[in-house]
Amino acid sequence: MKVALVVKNGRLINPATGEDKICDIRIDGTKITAIGPDVDIQDADILDATGLVVTPGLIDMHVHLRQPGQSAKETIESGTKAAAAGGFTRVATMPNTKPVIDSAIIVDGLKYKIAAEGVVKVDIIGSLSKGLEGKELSSMGGMAKAGVVAFSDDGRYVQNCDFMRKAMEYAGMFGKIVIDHCEDADLIEGGHMHEGVVSHELGLKGRPAVAEDIAVARDILLAEATGTAVHIAHISTKNAVQMVRQAKAKGLKVTAEATPQHMILTDEALRSYDPRFKVNPPLRSEEHRKAVVEGLVDGTIDAIVTDHAPHTIEEKDCEFSLAPSGFVGLETSLGTVLTYLYHTGTVDLMTLIRTMTSSPAALLGVDAGNVTVGKTADLTIMDLNKEWTVDSDKFYSKGKSTPFEDMILKGKAVATIVDGKIVMKDGEV
Ligand code: DOR
Repeated sequence: MKVALVVKNGRLINPATGEDKICDIRIDGTKITAIGPDVDIQDADILDATGLVVTPGLIDMHVHLRQPGQSAKETIESGTKAAAAGGFTRVATMPNTKPVIDSAIIVDGLKYKIAAEGVVKVDIIGSLSKGLEGKELSSMGGMAKAGVVAFSDDGRYVQNCDFMRKAMEYAGMFGKIVIDHCEDADLIEGGHMHEGVVSHELGLKGRPAVAEDIAVARDILLAEATGTAVHIAHISTKNAVQMVRQAKAKGLKVTAEATPQHMILTDEALRSYDPRFKVNPPLRSEEHRKAVVEGLVDGTIDAIVTDHAPHTIEEKDCEFSLAPSGFVGLETSLGTVLTYLYHTGTVDLMTLIRTMTSSPAALLGVDAGNVTVGKTADLTIMDLNKEWTVDSDKFYSKGKSTPFEDMILKGKAVATIVDGKIVMKDGEV
């Protein structure tokens, strides 16, 4: 049996080193052993990447795999298959599960499941508070020892300033970043969508942009006060982007991520009252959308994430105001950003790939996102020009709700390689 693989003649884009070149990549076992023109192909299977782009394996640092406890929505198996199908070799899963991932024993149980069922690598994010209640600290020390990569109460904002300050001090002691879902709870109470012209016309209660702005402002001040790195989850407002920009200029440890949906769609989509567009933070107006894209272009935004948030069809297929927020993204992320950000000339490929590989790897503190000899062979191979239509029936994810349904996209992952093994080829996992 051949133990080596040569990815032949692809265009390697490796943001960690700034390389953009046509080359071969040889993999022996789990490691990259040679990169260059005409590498040794002896004893190797060949994967012809002529005309294709080869990148470090894509990383999504914000997904909800719903384990433990919510296997009707997603499992490690279905979620990691969806990741592989979308070109991701690594994802970080959020702790708003049942039970909440708030202690080492839950982390250990989940690690066991990931080892048994995971098709791609899964990092675990521990909660900041017990039961996500924002009152008592979770077992942060134990979870840090058990290997969580970050702490977050994602899904809700940590409303109490005193609690957040303590949580950040602890997270800092363990060298972990704090990821915060920034929407002030009082200001969004009862809201279903972005507050603005559209929400007023539809007669739906809104979640104002200022709810995010205030939340982000507080977190930046606490990052300065505690010295702990804070990472703003799914940033979606103009002022929030501007504040992160200023914080970075000041040298504070503040970073941010943005989703395809907040960079591509606006609250105009809500006119259909279709629950598939319901998400938190909400799809906002054009000026906010543009500001988020500008933040990505100028380096204010460090990572593109999906916030992949599967719900069952029964839960999501109901009256708008009753439907849960969130939708899946792992299988559309690359296609949507290539179509709407790269092919439109808005964002260059190096920036796009950096924010989906080396940059999230650095934020999580994991050794990944770099195609260099000696590194683990996690790679994504993509066809920038492949046209395809989004069809949620074909998703590996159990979640079928996507705001991109039926869209024709240009660009797709055609192979995903994890630890030197091809886990997805031509869409088949
Ligand atoms: O819309 C959302 N759904 N936003 C979040 O932050 C959480 C997510 C979920 O867990 O369903």
